Amino acid sequence: MEHGRLLFPCFLLVVLFAASASAQLRTGFYSNTCPNLESLVRSAVTTKFQQTFVTAPGTLRLFFHDCFVRGCDASVLLSSPTNKAEKDHPDDLSLAGDGFDTVIKAKAAVDSDPRCKNKVSCADILALATRDVISLTGGPFYNVELGRRDGRISTIASVQRKLPHPEFTLDQLNTMFATNGLTQTDMIALSGAHTIGFAHCGKFSKRIYSFSRGNPIDPTLNKTYAAQLRQMCPVNVDPRIAINMDPTTPRTFDNAYFRNLVQGMGLFSSDQALFTDPRSKPTVYQFASSETAFRQAFISAITKLGRVGVKTGNQGEIRIDCTRIN
Ligand code: HEM
Repeated sequence: MEHGRLLFPCFLLVVLFAASASAQLRTGFYSNTCPNLESLVRSAVTTKFQQTFVTAPGTLRLFFHDCFVRGCDASVLLSSPTNKAEKDHPDDLSLAGDGFDTVIKAKAAVDSDPRCKNKVSCADILALATRDVISLTGGPFYNVELGRRDGRISTIASVQRKLPHPEFTLDQLNTMFATNGLTQTDMIALSGAHTIGFAHCGKFSKRIYSFSRGNPIDPTLNKTYAAQLRQMCPVNVDPRIAINMDPTTPRTFDNAYFRNLVQGMGLFSSDQALFTDPRSKPTVYQFASSETAFRQAFISAITKLGRVGVKTGNQGEIRIDCTRIN
């Protein structure tokens, strides 16, 4: 009897502990073990950013793709000798190499401090590098919650149906983001990340050449913009050609993405759907008219994104090499 009574609360504790894994992230997680962590990451990311702008969009998208597949556990960084890791899935093949390189460089900078060597997870370094590229391009600076552990599993199969596609409808976007604990407002704010970076012509060519029978161009697309897109992405264009996603301020993290949507200048159907659909239109108008509202919503949403499926405590590991499990 005595034994049975003890078992129940223990079981309950385990359940509560597992459920609150994300609640254990905190901003001062490394303040004793690696007090200079934030400046080490920031200077490595700044150096890399000065070498190439792609550092910024590459790192930001890498963080998103990591978090939506097995949680923010740096599983996207793992390599497989037989090319069967997350990064080998078609949805991840266009992740920019400079995003991966940013994390590798930041990890080397962190490990150059003897106090920090092999104490900081690759997942946390990616979260910090993401904050840094956002602020380096003019976006908001925010405190990053830390304490993530690195995952030990990365497979092509786990990516399947976990990432949004450029032809998604609002319902499909909402469903996928809700699965990750994110609201429609979070999803719209996070889509604002498309204010920087590049897209390959093939990702939207259907919208400008073969939208529907009798309507080669998507009618929700601004006509002048559609003509410009056709010029930059002619039929049979080299598949490696990529264009700016924000045609107005491509290198600045601002709310131009939303002002573009109002003008019919969203590059993907999934972008333009946010303005076309009456359920999300008011939020697009709000972010288009208030940079402050967008920045606040973005900080809240990316902080929530950073909590998705995280491993904490003694789950996972602190990877010695971000591209390999220990
Ligand atoms: C809402 C659904 C989303 C869809 C359908 C989507 C889709 C895409 C696609 C198709 C590309 C172009 C890839 C290429 O051609 O190389 C892209 C690029 C990008 N996405 Fe998204 N994305 C979404 C949400 C997000 C979110 C939430 C973030 C980050 C918070 C993000 C950040 C980026 C960035 C920064 C790029 C540019 C990458 C570069 O220049 O290397 N996206 N996205």
